[in-house]
Amino acid sequence: MDKFVIRGGNPLLGTVRISGAKNAALPAMAAALLTDEPVILENIPQVRDIETTRRLLASMGAEVELGYGRAHHRTTISCAKLEHPEATYELVKTMRASTLVLGPLVARCGVAKVSLPGGCAIGARPIDLHIKGLERLGATITTEHGYVVARAERLQGGHIVFDKITVTGTEDLLMAAVLADGETLMENCAREPEVADLAALLVKMGANIEGAGTSTIRVRGVAKLGGARHRIIPDRIEAGTYIIAAALTGGDLNVTDCNPAHLTAVLQKLEETGVKVRHNAESVRVMSEGGFKPADVNTEEYPGFATDMQAQYMALATQADGTSIITENIFENRFMHAQELVRMGANIRMEGRRAIVRGKTPLSAAAVLASDLRASASLVLAALVADGETIIDRVYHIDRGYERIEEKLRGVGGEIRRIGEMFPKRATVPAAQG
Ligand code: UD1
Repeated sequence: MDKFVIRGGNPLLGTVRISGAKNAALPAMAAALLTDEPVILENIPQVRDIETTRRLLASMGAEVELGYGRAHHRTTISCAKLEHPEATYELVKTMRASTLVLGPLVARCGVAKVSLPGGCAIGARPIDLHIKGLERLGATITTEHGYVVARAERLQGGHIVFDKITVTGTEDLLMAAVLADGETLMENCAREPEVADLAALLVKMGANIEGAGTSTIRVRGVAKLGGARHRIIPDRIEAGTYIIAAALTGGDLNVTDCNPAHLTAVLQKLEETGVKVRHNAESVRVMSEGGFKPADVNTEEYPGFATDMQAQYMALATQADGTSIITENIFENRFMHAQELVRMGANIRMEGRRAIVRGKTPLSAAAVLASDLRASASLVLAALVADGETIIDRVYHIDRGYERIEEKLRGVGGEIRRIGEMFPKRATVPAAQG
């Protein structure tokens, strides 16, 4: 398993380019299931979840070309034949967003079989709202041997009011509704930019959708969708992570190819802490002198402060002069980075959904463990200002969602390198091959 070795102390200076949004690319790839014509997606990030999705679609019979180059990160997906409309446990357990295929598969094939995700490092994360919504569109749902099986000869338009705001739930049902017979009204929808980006792709494919990006979405179902070409929006969480990294290290960083309009909550919070931020239409410049005022954070659905930025913000809060209270409202059990930050010298007390962070405490390098994608990012940020050399284990979590993070950080002055397994594979390779 790869590890990162990071030596802290350097301010981040220069320019870093943001990749396409993983959380927009995943539903866009699932949307290709809705048509037998090719769908071409550009600005695909080179991260492990994309590769998992490629394998998932290929296992169903799709042809997926995935190419990365200097100018284009592009995939062409052709779902002319879908012989196995199924997402196996093996894939779903490594990437919960695999459940995004449920809606499009039942809409296109009349049947879908998707493994239940089971427990997950950041809380229970059920998919009951996806299931309830599909039932509202006329699907019959059974659960067999740990799999959800959804069937419908043709889905029917319906009225869905989400009990709770869910991002992938909104996307999954949007993809089901576009091929349903008649009109669907969805209320209490997620307003994340990734939902609007998916809708933009679906409209290019021939869907009839109004209101995506607001809490009420209206869909008029069509009989068939066609191919399309679409460019994925920039990753607002990756951008936010580099912005906080620049602030934390006392850097001067230009974060380009992003959409600052999607980053308002993070930028305003940083301004509250005293960091200077300037932006134009496609880039953000962060100028930091390293001293921060404390500021409380409540995670909320978009356009509120994203839960996916909470861990990174906590690293910053450890360096503020005073107490910041961070309240996690979206997921239970999403504070696993806190104990690792404490091991690096932070003063953090947990009270249920609240973390009380008392700064400023110097951070010192330690061996720490990445527990999930965003928790790992917060450890990288802490290591960038820690005294000494931090070793972060299990960086495969970070590879799920950050494209070449070590190269990008090195490009702006971060001292970070990746090392392979400390103990080579010999012990696990069968003798006959060894
Ligand atoms: C998506 C993002 C993830 C982000 C999260 C919240 C993707 C691929 N992932 O995850 O990065 O952290 O939004 O912004 O886009 N819930 C239910 N029942 C359901 C579905 C969700 O109770 O059927 C609950 C969840 O447990 C959670 C809350 O609703 O407490 C929000 O989860 P949701 O928005 O669905 O998260 P994801 O779409 O899985």
